[in-house]
Order: sequence, then structure tokens, then C-alpha cells
Amino acid sequence: MPDILADMKTLDLRSDTVTRPTPPMREAMARAEVGDDVYGEDPSVNLLQERIARMLGKEAALFVPSGTMANQLALRAQTQHGDVILAGEHAHVLQYESGGAAALSGVQIKTLGVGGFFDGPDVRAALHPRDHHYAPVTLVAVENTHTVSGGQIFPLERIRSVAEVARECGLRLHLDGARLWNAVVATGIPAATWAEPFDSVSCCLSKGLGAPVGSVVSASAETIERMHRFRKMLGGGMRQAGVLAAAGLYALDHHVTRLADDHAHARRLSAGLRELGLKVRSEPDTNMVLFGFDDVRGFLRATRSRKLLIDPIARGILRAVTHLDVDAADVEDALARIAESLIELRGSAPRDAR
Ligand SMILES: Cc1ncc(COP(=O)(O)O)c(C=O)c1O
Repeated sequence: MPDILADMKTLDLRSDTVTRPTPPMREAMARAEVGDDVYGEDPSVNLLQERIARMLGKEAALFVPSGTMANQLALRAQTQHGDVILAGEHAHVLQYESGGAAALSGVQIKTLGVGGFFDGPDVRAALHPRDHHYAPVTLVAVENTHTVSGGQIFPLERIRSVAEVARECGLRLHLDGARLWNAVVATGIPAATWAEPFDSVSCCLSKGLGAPVGSVVSASAETIERMHRFRKMLGGGMRQAGVLAAAGLYALDHHVTRLADDHAHARRLSAGLRELGLKVRSEPDTNMVLFGFDDVRGFLRATRSRKLLIDPIARGILRAVTHLDVDAADVEDALARIAESLIELRGSAPRDAR
């Protein structure tokens, strides 16, 4: 019997990290001028660092293998062992960096606000009295866009209110901007405006932008100097990393403005899921759609058997992410595969198709 699935394209909506470098990106990588970056002699790495520092209005930047390393260097360089840092609920630095903040920086993380978002008064309320019994709170970490909330944007006025209190109280501010580009494109607010209140900003090239590897952390020259040492300590010094930086430079030139397509696709996906009777958690701000389904395992089995990959992110909650390798037709195709899966699971036609 012919395998009718054999020619079917796998639609991978688990994350925007699953993209593969495009042929022109690979050509840019192959053409990259390189040198030994541990000696600071890789022209492509230097160009990428200078370019991102300029885009974010910071003095300097450092190319690192991952968003996790970018965040962890920022914490290590700006805190002391025993400090407390403040972060929103489900922050990546708290939940998904393998305990790095505790292991590498020796800091405790205290969460504040609701669902990843908070305001200046939340920061003030989280501070300890000035007394030697308490560990000092020294840094606030903001995540924009916030992954677990479904790529929601941290509103600029709320960031400014956080920054005002943080400055008044002498706290450092770090922005986990793994998907800052999505916030930039969705709002039209330039990256430098988003970055302005922060001492350090990490951003990724390997999420929506489609580069195979790479993140960049930006800050003052002095703070980057400290991070440079910790990057070495963690084994993150790379040699002819220009082949990777070239992918990042290509991504900045060609894959930023197109994030608007991913956002439009997420909105269409969200509308389509609602039409199928599924409960979408909120209208997507950027490229992620969170929706509920009680039988998550059944849903994943039914969709996987139709070559559609979606991630569960919490009990009864699934996440679909749009990205460079998913076009408008793929979104319609994904919705059709979900509709078929629902028929299988519910034993009848989905609500809108009856
Ligand atoms: C908000 C946020 N920060 C940091 C990271 C870490 O990036 P990486 O997987 O490159 O370590 C991620 C990964 O998805 C993320 O969503």
C-alpha cells in the first residue's frame, strides 16, 4: 500500500528555533572572512558585535553560542554570590537555564508580578530592608518578549516604571531579549528604545531570525570586559566563529522585517483554532499561540501522526510557534491537520464544520 504520508511535509510548530539556514544564508557563511576570535581577530564576529551594540545603543557587545550563555554572563558579571535578583514568573533565567544562576553566579531568584510581567511598585515591594539579615537585591531581569506567556510583549511604559524604581534603588537591569526583534517589529519601537533602560541586553540570532547558532550580549565596555573573562571561563571562546557571525549578519539584513509575516501567521492560526472550537489563551502579540486542550497526549498523538509537531508547555496547554520555515499555506495546512485530529479525538466533526 502506498504510504500517503511519505510525501507530506512535516510542519514543525514546536519553536522558532527549528529553522534551517536558507541557501543564501549558507552562502554568506561560506564566504565569511574569519580569524581567531579568541585573539579578537575575527572580522565577521567583530562586525556583528559592533553592529548589535550600535543597534541597541550600547558601548560594546559579545558574541556567544547561546541565549542561555548570554543571560548567565550578564548575571555573573553584574552580581555577587549571595545576592538576590528579581525576575518575572516563569522567567527563562529561572526556569530553563538548568540552575545556572545558582550554580554559576550563586544568586537567589525571587519572582515578582504576575505571568512574567511586573511594574515599579512590584520591584519596590520585593526589596528587603537594609539589614544584615537579608541578602541584598542587586539586579532586575526583564524578559521581552516573554516566552511562557506565549511571546507577549512587556509594554514599554511598564519597563520604564520598573527601571525608574530600579535606578532609584541602585539595582542593575538586565533584559533577556532572546526575541527582542519580535517586539521591535510588532510595535515599531526601535531596538535602542527597548534597550535604553537596561545595563545589559541579550538577544538571539537563532530564534525567529533563522541563524543556526548565536546570541549577542550588549552592555558598557567595562561590563562586556567582565563578561569576556567569564565567557572564557565557561569555555565559550570560539575560534573562527565568523562563519556563525556571518549567518547572524545575514539574518539581521534579511530576516528581521519579515518577522511581521510570522506574526500575521500566528494571528491566522489563532483565528483558525478558535473556529475549530479550541480555547486560545489570548490574541498573539507576536509569533506564538497558546491554546488549551484537556487530552494533551491524545492531541499530540493525533497531530504527530499527521506530521504536525506542536509542543505541550503546561498541563492542558499547547503552544504553536510560527517561523521562517512556515508560510501562509503551511498555516492553512496545519489547521486542516488539526481539524482532522479533532474529528479523530472527538469522534465527530469539529464544531464549525458540522
Ligand atoms: C526568553 C528566552 N531566553 C533565553 C533563551 C535561551 O536561548 P538558548 O536556547 O539559545 O540558550 C530562550 C530559549 O528559547 C528564551 O526563550
